Amino acid sequence: MRYLVSIFWLTVIVSGSYCLSSQTQTSPRYEIRTLHDPNGTGTFYMGREIAQVMGPGGIEWLDRAQRDTEEHPAQVLDALQLHSGEIVADLGAGSGYFTFRMAPKVGKTGKVLAVDVQDEMLQTLRQRAAAKKITNVEVIRASDTDPHLPTGAVDLVLVVDVYHELAHPYEVMQRVRDSLKPDGRVAFVEYRKEDPDVPIKEVHKMSVSQLKKEMAVVGLVLVSRVETLPLQHVLIFGKR
Ligand SMILES: C[S@@+](CC[C@H](N)C(=O)[O-])C[C@H]1O[C@@H](n2cnc3c(N)ncnc32)[C@H](O)[C@@H]1O
Repeated sequence: MRYLVSIFWLTVIVSGSYCLSSQTQTSPRYEIRTLHDPNGTGTFYMGREIAQVMGPGGIEWLDRAQRDTEEHPAQVLDALQLHSGEIVADLGAGSGYFTFRMAPKVGKTGKVLAVDVQDEMLQTLRQRAAAKKITNVEVIRASDTDPHLPTGAVDLVLVVDVYHELAHPYEVMQRVRDSLKPDGRVAFVEYRKEDPDVPIKEVHKMSVSQLKKEMAVVGLVLVSRVETLPLQHVLIFGKR
């Protein structure tokens, strides 16, 4: 009888641990929930809902005249400490608000890789580079999972108001990490989620603790932080 009881408990323990390990192995990285923010996608990553991608109709908003006074781009550029000759990427470049501000900073010997997933953004970037006769901007078409950056070659990847809407943040950030030189950096500019007075939709904001958690799983750590912008964090990460 004692033998049978032991066999019973052994079976329970073994099958329990099997369920646990098979759950761990198959647990999806992304979770779909039916109850979610109307501005979100219903897909959750590490407890955060992924926002909907801003469409080409958003170009007008990205180019709005008051953006300079709201976002202080000169202060962002100072925080990036760009040098002539550097290879920098503008991930989710949109209409090029930061692409064309970074291009003169890295000069003719440097390059800005302007990366986006949407045709209209890529077209706008090409047209603006041609109109401004800027030769150190290379436009790159990304996929949802891969920004198609060169491996081990990039000094800085700038990600302004984009990270919260990446459909596959884990896969993209793995590739971004691979693209960095050993001392390369990734700089995020995101609206402060910690501040309820920042007038931006909740799923388009990001907290420092959430971003640190999401970068830790791809081997990136916070190396510096600027909190002097009116509405946004500037959070700079490097390899561990
Ligand atoms: C809110 S806009 C920000 C544009 C620009 N960074 C700026 O500050 O003006 C977000 C941009 O990210 C792009 N985007 C979304 N997912 C992307 C991905 N997986 N890879 C590259 N770009 C992406 C969108 O197409 C859009 O142009």
